[in-house]
Amino acid sequence: MKFDDIKVCVFDAYGTLFDVHAAVGHHRARLGDKADAVSAMWRTKQLEYTWLRSLMDRYVPFWQVTGDALDYAFDAHGVSDPSLREDLLNAYMQLDCYPEVPEVLASLKDAGMRTAILSNGSPEMLDAAVKSSKLDTLLDAVLSVDELGIFKPHPSVYQLAVDRLGVAPRQVSFQSSNAWDAAAAATFGFRVAWVNRFGQSEERLPDRPDVQLRTLSELPAVVLS
Ligand code: LAC
Repeated sequence: MKFDDIKVCVFDAYGTLFDVHAAVGHHRARLGDKADAVSAMWRTKQLEYTWLRSLMDRYVPFWQVTGDALDYAFDAHGVSDPSLREDLLNAYMQLDCYPEVPEVLASLKDAGMRTAILSNGSPEMLDAAVKSSKLDTLLDAVLSVDELGIFKPHPSVYQLAVDRLGVAPRQVSFQSSNAWDAAAAATFGFRVAWVNRFGQSEERLPDRPDVQLRTLSELPAVVLS
């Protein structure tokens, strides 16, 4: 499948460009056999809290949600270790990007495509992650929900990209590894590539992504003419 007339590639950040399990990965030994379960619960709770806070109209920046979710995951697994908590949160600030990301962004830029991030992440989190992976010269814009005070998948978040980038929804190719984010972006009207890194099942939501990729390496062939 090929998308025509794409003017900008907009990427979700966490799980799509940046590996959300890299923080625990760097401190795996300190969590022993609980490492994977803590990391998975940390991510699940982080997302749940964004959805719940949006419904409750109780927005706080993603950085606070991320700390709250880690506290829940520690508690649920009987972990009490303030120095590990601090180290994990510091690692989350500078998450590793997935290996193919710099090359894919570079090849899109070389072909004249604009690139942007649209993320729940707080501006300082996104800034730190982008810089530590040296992606700053490969991105034209980094857009955070923080200026809206509501998280994905509220339609105003996807509208922010349209407004800031000055394009029509059908001229955006949106990439996310989060199936629910991909589905919501399709409902908004973007062309959507779901990067199904984790072999997840398709969501049963109103709309489906246009194409499913295994990694972002497959993206240039979809969006470049
Ligand atoms: C983000 C979350 C959804 O970066 O991964 O917006």
